[in-house]
This record gives sequence, C-alpha cells and structure tokens, in this order.
Amino acid sequence: MISEQEFMEKLSETRRSIVERVNIEPQIGIILGSGLGGFVDLIENPVAIPYHEIPHFPVSTVEGHKGQLVFGKVLGKPVVAMQGRFHFYEGYSMQEVTFPVRVMQALGVAGLIVTNAAGGINPAYRPGDLILIKDHINMMGDNPLRGTNLSNLGPRFPDLSEGYDLDWRQRALTVAREVGISPQEGVYAAMSGPSYESPAEICFLRTVGADLVGMSTVPEVIVANHGGMRVLGISCVTNMAAGILAQRLSHAEVMETAQRIEKQFVRFVQALVKALA
Ligand code: 6GU
Repeated sequence: MISEQEFMEKLSETRRSIVERVNIEPQIGIILGSGLGGFVDLIENPVAIPYHEIPHFPVSTVEGHKGQLVFGKVLGKPVVAMQGRFHFYEGYSMQEVTFPVRVMQALGVAGLIVTNAAGGINPAYRPGDLILIKDHINMMGDNPLRGTNLSNLGPRFPDLSEGYDLDWRQRALTVAREVGISPQEGVYAAMSGPSYESPAEICFLRTVGADLVGMSTVPEVIVANHGGMRVLGISCVTNMAAGILAQRLSHAEVMETAQRIEKQFVRFVQALVKALA
C-alpha cells in the first residue's frame, strides 16, 4: 500500500502532464461504457490523450475500448471523456479502476456522468432502454476507499445517501422526455464478474431491490462522491439478465444493443451536458 503522500505526488504528476498538453478546464467528466464511446465524436476541438501516454494510468486491455481521455467542448461546455474504462474483472485493483476519477477531481471536475452497459433485471425493461441510476448495491466485495483515507481528497466515512445527485436526476428525467426517451430510474447492482450471474443470483438481486446488473460504475461513483462530485449514472440495458427471459446471454448481444442505441445515447448525453453544466 502506498502512502497518502506518495499517492498525492503521483496524482499531481499526472495532473501536470495533462495540464501541459490541454488548455481546457473540464467542468464535467464523462465515463463512457462498453460500446458507447461514440460520444467523443461530438466533442469540439478534441484533444485525445491515449491512456498509455498518461503517467500512472493503468493500460486498457479489453477489445472495443479505445483507451483515451478526450478533452474539449460539448455545446460550449468544457468536458473530459474517458473512452474506455478499467474494470475490476480485468484484474485491476479498485485504486487502479478509480484513478481516472481522482485525476478528474485533481483537474477540477465538479460533476461526473457515468455510463455503462447493464443487464436488465426489472421485467418492465427492454434491451435498448436507457435507465437513470437512482442508487446502487455494491456486491463487488471490495471498496476503492479501503485503506488509509486520502484526507486531502475526501472524508474517511463519506455519505452515500445521495450518491446519485437528486437534482441532477430530476433534471435528467426532464431531458429524457425532451429527447424522446421514456424517463425511467433504477437501482444498479455491481458484481465483480467476469462471468454473468446465474439465474439464482439474479433472483436474489431482484429480491433485494436491484433493477439492473453490471460489472462497473460503483467504484467510480464511490470515489466521485468521496471527492465531493455530483454524479449522474446512466445504464444502457443491453440484454435481460439470466433467467429473466428463456434465452442465453452473450457479449455479442451486449455490444450489438449498445451499438444499436448509440445514436440515441449520444443525443441524450449531449443534452445532459447542456442541462447540467
Ligand atoms: Cl446480465 N450482468 C452483468 N454483470 N453485466 C452485464 C450484464 C449482465 N449485461 C451487460 N452487462
């Protein structure tokens, strides 16, 4: 385990290397989930920095992930987007998974839009639905804040009773209606993966109040809350979870649905940046 001082030095080194290359002060950070990276095409005068060129960044491995930070403006608002995230199931530690959120915090980002591809547990959902996350259940068996508290970055025991900012959620429901998306909210359960859940696990998650299931987002959201950011979460239901339909799951279906819905997703996130920034 590294000391708080070592971590803060690492973080300021990373920050410095970015500030040297980009003369934009992003107000909003956006984490783009699997198959949803097309949002970066909307960024005006983009400056893209591949993860492998950023000191102390982990390096992305999964296919379908470009692995870069993209800085620029969306409808005049300064943003930074993560095209491709680090997943716990890839073997990264929780600290590695959430390092980009710390970098955003160090850059002055005040609000985070987190997106993901998720399995639908709520039987009212359909593949292709975009759902606002209203709360989460951390089933990953770990927490990115475990260990010495980084007291310069946030409190030892952060409150998560509004982990997904209520005002942002309400504004996002309005934005959804405006862009023709049926406004829906749900509770996201995060599993470590990489196997999809068994039908019995999905039955369990449904019983305890989960509407969506995935393998990401919760670590980043915990760290963003620790760092005092507002958070908005959006899940793209790419498939129904195991046992909900008499149908098997595949990563191909996940990617196909994400691609099918990407245009609508991009429009939604663009309108959200405009409404929230
Ligand atoms: Cl069904 N489960 C998990 N854990 N992640 C997913 C998924 C299901 N569908 C897309 N991502």
